[in-house]
This record gives sequence, C-alpha cells and structure tokens, in this order.
Amino acid sequence: MKISRGKKNSMLDKMHDHFLHIAPRYKELRTTDLGPLLHITNKIKNLQNIQAADIGCGTGRYSLKFVEQLGEKCHLFCVDNNEEMLHHLKEDFAKHNITNFTPIHSDSHRIPLQTDSLDCVMSFNAIHHFPLPDFLRESSRILKNNGKLFVYTRLRDQNAKTIWGMHFPSFTKKESRLYELEELKSAFEKDPNLNINSVKLFEHNRVYPLERLVEQAKNHHYSTFRLYKRHEFKDALHKFVQNILNHYNDLDKITWKDQNTLLVVENRQ
Ligand SMILES: C[S@@+](CC[C@H](N)C(=O)[O-])C[C@H]1O[C@@H](n2cnc3c(N)ncnc32)[C@H](O)[C@@H]1O
Repeated sequence: MKISRGKKNSMLDKMHDHFLHIAPRYKELRTTDLGPLLHITNKIKNLQNIQAADIGCGTGRYSLKFVEQLGEKCHLFCVDNNEEMLHHLKEDFAKHNITNFTPIHSDSHRIPLQTDSLDCVMSFNAIHHFPLPDFLRESSRILKNNGKLFVYTRLRDQNAKTIWGMHFPSFTKKESRLYELEELKSAFEKDPNLNINSVKLFEHNRVYPLERLVEQAKNHHYSTFRLYKRHEFKDALHKFVQNILNHYNDLDKITWKDQNTLLVVENRQ
C-alpha cells in the first residue's frame, strides 16, 4: 500500500513525540539482551582502534554496553534524531564515567560523519523506523572498505510470537513497519556495496509477572501501542489481561520465548 507524504509525516511526528515522552523511562521499561552485543564485540575485538556508530541509539542501553565491552580502544558515535533520547544517553554515560563517545543529533540517512571513516556501524531495534535504502547507502558511505554493519531487529514473524503478538488484540496488524527476512535481504541485494555475511537467530526465554507486562503496555514500551486510538488501546489492554488469565495459571510467571535476528553485513567498495 502506498502511503501519502502527509500520512508519512504525521506518522514520523507521532513517533518523534512518542520517543520524546518515553525517554526518561525507556531503559527501565525495555529488556536489554547481552547476546547480540557480545556477538558484535567478539567480531571486532581484535582491531586496535575501533571507530563505531550506533544509529538510532535511543537512550544508549546498547551503546553503553558496547563501550563497556571494548573499553578505551573504541570511540562510539551515538546517533539519534530525538534530542530527549540523547539527553538521557548523555546522563547515563556521565553516571558511568564514560567519555569515549560523541552524541550526534541527526537522521539515520544524513549522518555528519566522514566518508570511509568507521570500522563498525550498528543499529538495535530501530531499522523499521528508518528510510531503509537511504540508511543502507549512508552506512556504506561512512564505513571503511571491509567495515561491518550489524542490524539487530525483530522480524514481522518474530513479532507475532511475542507475548504481545500472541495475546494483545491487533498488535501484529498495527505493527506493519517491521520487515520479513526476505524483505531485508532484497534491500541489501539492491545496495552494490553491502553483502550479508551471516544471519543469526537469538532466542530469549522471558519470565515476567502480569503486573510488569501491564505496566510496560500502559507506558507504551513498544511504539506499536502508540498506533492505537485511546479507547481502542484501553479495550485491547483489558482483553490482553483476559487472554493471559485464560492461558496462564501462575500470574507471577508469564513465560514465553522472544526471537530476534542479527544481520552481519560487510561493506566492500
Ligand atoms: C525503538 S528505539 C531503539 C533505541 C535503541 N537502539 C535501543 O534498542 O534501546 C528507536 C530509536 O530510533 C530513533 N529514530 C527513529 N527514526 C530515526 C531516524 N530516521 N534517524 C535517527 N534516529 C531515529 C528514535 O528516536 C529511537 O530513539
């Protein structure tokens, strides 16, 4: 379906507003997975001096772990188009006494970094917010020859297997921005410089009390919830709780398995 420019801009404004409001609580509301981050740092840890960028870094929960893993031999450019998310990133980095980073308030497809300057570009849970071909072109431009691009995301079919996809009414229908693997592959194939090296699946066993799930949804920890009208969200949340009561006995231990995908991509010019 073709989306008109007006509709596209109003969606972008809605998302900007969403991240502006959620910024103070974002890190606490989301679950950070160490597996993909360690996979990335392992791939580049033998480099002497690492210049890297995290695009759509948000409040920097993955950026922080990246810098902690690699220490002083890396410099990280933390790029996001939301000033409030970056504000909280800077606060958090200061709290951890980390100084080898540069916050950059910028769009994913117009990054003020030099051509051919980075060893690594990564993006966590954000690629579905970007204009994809433009982001790929920009990543390839700023990466050195043989530099690596890492994209960590939830695919559309993986979204359907989350607790929200299984039990929250209309969640998968509303979330039409996520990609299927084939769509991502075909976007990379169209870029002459970017070659997918590997596709790695991550599985995470989740155990949460229902109370925490309701808190997450009420605070719109996934931007998908912003796509519901107010009354629609209220009804859907009510039905979600009913669905959980019907499916689980121990409401302190709601269990499911989340899946995510990491694309490891090489830049060859
Ligand atoms: C779902 S959050 C993920 C944040 C972070 N990577 C994480 O996993 O915690 C998506 C982030 O992408 C940012 N974003 C969305 N569209 C963007 C764009 N076109 N350019 C740069 N950042 C963007 C948002 O402001 C938000 O901080």
